[in-house]
Amino acid sequence: MTKQNKIIFACQSCGYQAPKWLGRCPDCAEWNSFAEEISESSKKKGSTISSMGYPQTIDSISLVSDHRIKTRISEFDRTLGGGLVPGSLLLLGGDPGIGKSTLVLQVAGKLSEQGLQTLYVSGEESPQQIKLRAERLSVHSENLYVVSGTCIEHIFDRMQDLNPDLLIVDSIQTTHTEALPSAPGSVGQLREVSTRLLRWAKESNTPTFLIGHVTKDGAIAGPKVLEHLVDTVLYFEGDSKHMFRIVRAVKNRYGSTNEIGVFEMKEKGLKEVGNPSRIFLEERPQRASGSVVVPCIEGTRPLLVEIQALVGPSPFGMPRRTAVGVDHNRISLLVAVLGKRVGLEMGDQDIFVNVAGGLKVDEPATDLGIVSAMISSFLDKPVKTDMVTFGEIGLAGEIRGVNQPEMRINEAKKLGFSKCLFSTSNIESCESISDIDLIGIKSVKDLLDLLF
Ligand code: TYD
Ligand code: MG
Repeated sequence: MTKQNKIIFACQSCGYQAPKWLGRCPDCAEWNSFAEEISESSKKKGSTISSMGYPQTIDSISLVSDHRIKTRISEFDRTLGGGLVPGSLLLLGGDPGIGKSTLVLQVAGKLSEQGLQTLYVSGEESPQQIKLRAERLSVHSENLYVVSGTCIEHIFDRMQDLNPDLLIVDSIQTTHTEALPSAPGSVGQLREVSTRLLRWAKESNTPTFLIGHVTKDGAIAGPKVLEHLVDTVLYFEGDSKHMFRIVRAVKNRYGSTNEIGVFEMKEKGLKEVGNPSRIFLEERPQRASGSVVVPCIEGTRPLLVEIQALVGPSPFGMPRRTAVGVDHNRISLLVAVLGKRVGLEMGDQDIFVNVAGGLKVDEPATDLGIVSAMISSFLDKPVKTDMVTFGEIGLAGEIRGVNQPEMRINEAKKLGFSKCLFSTSNIESCESISDIDLIGIKSVKDLLDLLF
C-alpha cells in the first residue's frame, strides 16, 4: 500500500462512512461503532473481479480430496475435525497465560518435525524467550523459524523470503499495518491485518494460526470481531486456575463444532488427556449428597461429567444462585419446575451448581442431572451409587428424550456404571444394550422414587 491511502471511519453495524471518528452513528444511532478503515477507492481496483471464477453447475464441481495435515497431537487433531486443512485460517483465543503460545509451539514443533517449514512470528516475545519455552517443551527442529515482529508489511517481506508451509502469528492484537495510523489492537487494525492474512493464506494455500487474547471483561473485544472472517475458531475454556485446559472448536468450517480437546498443563507443556471421562470423575466424592454423573456429548464424543449442587437455607433475605459451567438461567427455570411440579420449594435457598473440572456444558441433556443434584443436596441424601442420568426437562415437568442415548449409555458402561436413568422415550432405541440397568422416567414427579 502506498502513502496515499485514504483513511475513513466506518460504522461497524451499518457501514456509514465518515472522515472523522464519531461517538454515535448518525445513520443507525449505534454508539461507539466506528472503526478506522482504508478507503476502498484507494485500494487497487479490479483485483477482486479478476480473481473471481465463473459460475458452474454444482454437479460439475470436482471434489478436492479432503487432505488434512495431522499434527499428531490427537486431542488437537480431534478438535480440528481430523487435522489442519491447507489454506485455512484458524483463530486460537483464550485468557492471557492459559497456554496459547505453549500449544501452538508444540503444534509447530510436531509439524516442523514432519518437514513443514514453519514460521512463528511473535509480537510479544523475543526469539530468546521462545527458545527458552521450546527447550522446556523439547521442541527442536531445523524447519522451525522464529522471528519477532509486529508490522504486517515486514512480516509479508519475511514470508516472501521463506515461503513457509505454516504460519503462526502470536498475537493478532500486537500485529499492525503501517497503512492505518491507529494503535495495534484496535478494531480497524485487527480487521485489516486479518483480512490480509486471510487473503495470503488462501492464495498460498498455507494454514495460518492467529492467536487472540480474550480481554478481561470476557467480551473478547479482540478475537470476537474476527470470528466471521476465519475458518476455525478455537477457544481455551475456563481460566488458568483450573487443572485442565479445554480447547473447544466454537466454529469450524471443516469439522463439527463443540468438539473439545482436553489437556493438562505440566512442567513440560500441555499433555493430552487420553480418557477425559475418567479424569473428570477421578476425585468424585463417594456417597456424598449433591453429586450426580451425567453423560454429555461434546462434539462427536461422549464425556462423563460430575455435576455438583449445594442447596442450603439462605442467611439473608436474598437467596443466591451461582452456576459454574452451566447456564445460570437454566437453574432458575429448573428450580421453578421443581417447586411447581414436585412440591420441593427451593426458592428461599442459596443454590450453587458446579461442573467439576472446569468444563462448560450447555446441553439440555444435563437438566435431569442438575435437578437430581439439587434434590440430593436439598434432602441431604446421596443418589444411588453407580448411576448416571441424562434428559431434558420441559416446563410441565416432563422428561424429554435427547440425541444419541446409546453413545451416552455405552460411555457410562465403559466406566463401570451399572444404572442409567433417562427418558422413557429414549428407552426403545437402547434396548439392545446389556449389562446396565436402564431405568425410564416420564416426569420429575417420579424422580424422588428413582433417585435414592
Ligand atoms: P503461555 O502459553 O505463555 O500462555 P498464553 O500464550 O496463553 O498467554 O502459558 C503460560 C503459562 O503456562 C505460564 O503461566 C506457565 C505455564 N507453563 C507450564 O506450566 N509449563 C510449561 O511447560 C510451559 C511452557 C508453560
Ligand atoms: Mg502467549
